[in-house]
Amino acid sequence: MLDARTPEPRAAGAPAQSWRARGAWQLADIDYAGADRGRAADDTTLFQMITMASFVETGSDLYAHNLVSYFDDDEVVAGWLAESWEHEEVQHGAALRAYVERVWPDFDWQRTYDRFFDEYRQTCTVPELEPARALELAARCVVEMGTATLYGAMGAYADEPVLKDLTAHIYADEVRHYKHFYRYFRRYQERERHGRWRVARTMTRRLLQTADDDGRIAFRHLWQATRRGNGTSVDDEYRAFRDRISSVARRFAPRDLPVEMFLRPLRLPPVAARGARSCAGTLFRWWLEA
Ligand SMILES: [Fe+2]
Ligand SMILES: [Fe+2]
Repeated sequence: MLDARTPEPRAAGAPAQSWRARGAWQLADIDYAGADRGRAADDTTLFQMITMASFVETGSDLYAHNLVSYFDDDEVVAGWLAESWEHEEVQHGAALRAYVERVWPDFDWQRTYDRFFDEYRQTCTVPELEPARALELAARCVVEMGTATLYGAMGAYADEPVLKDLTAHIYADEVRHYKHFYRYFRRYQERERHGRWRVARTMTRRLLQTADDDGRIAFRHLWQATRRGNGTSVDDEYRAFRDRISSVARRFAPRDLPVEMFLRPLRLPPVAARGARSCAGTLFRWWLEA
């Protein structure tokens, strides 16, 4: 069921407003009623991916406030974080939830989410903020690169048109978030002037932290609520799920753009860029399959 925070989806067949023209989109722009359940409902991997993403995005305001207060004396950055970024991340969770509730109406999203969040809030690994603002902004570029990659892969994997539309909206948001963080990174880097190695180390560390196993918590609660699959234990099922996700990522994730996004804050001279591209590509492939 949609809760009070969730706007009513528009009716099937009603014209979509141009979210690009308005620079932002809302749940009412997504044609949930037009979702073709027959092209999605039997896909367990899709159900698990979308539901787990909805849990983590819905819970993102747990740590979003830390970042807002880290920039509290910078009106431009703190204003964008509080008024756009945080709102949009939470909207991603609500939008994915609305899709789950439309296509898998028997699944009790709220009850399972509550159980997940009870555990997640106590155990989720929130990376420490970096000691300098330019470094934290470079690390945020990595996080947005990662989410853009995952939604790009989901959209390419999905066969159902409304889900393709929804993941395209979220993908565009994540790329736009990256651009904002990159622009603010450049501003702070002009003042702080960190060396390339320090920026690269910071970004690599954050990339490795995003591969941490927080997804296991979401998966366990999902598994307990649905008992989908044929495995004998949650650990067997989780291993099988990770294998399926790796093969989706190998086949459907964008390749070149994430590597370019990772390297951009390093601002390498052309002569160094080719070797760095190859190293970043190796690191990125490892991350995709971690
Ligand atoms: Fe997001
Ligand atoms: Fe984002």
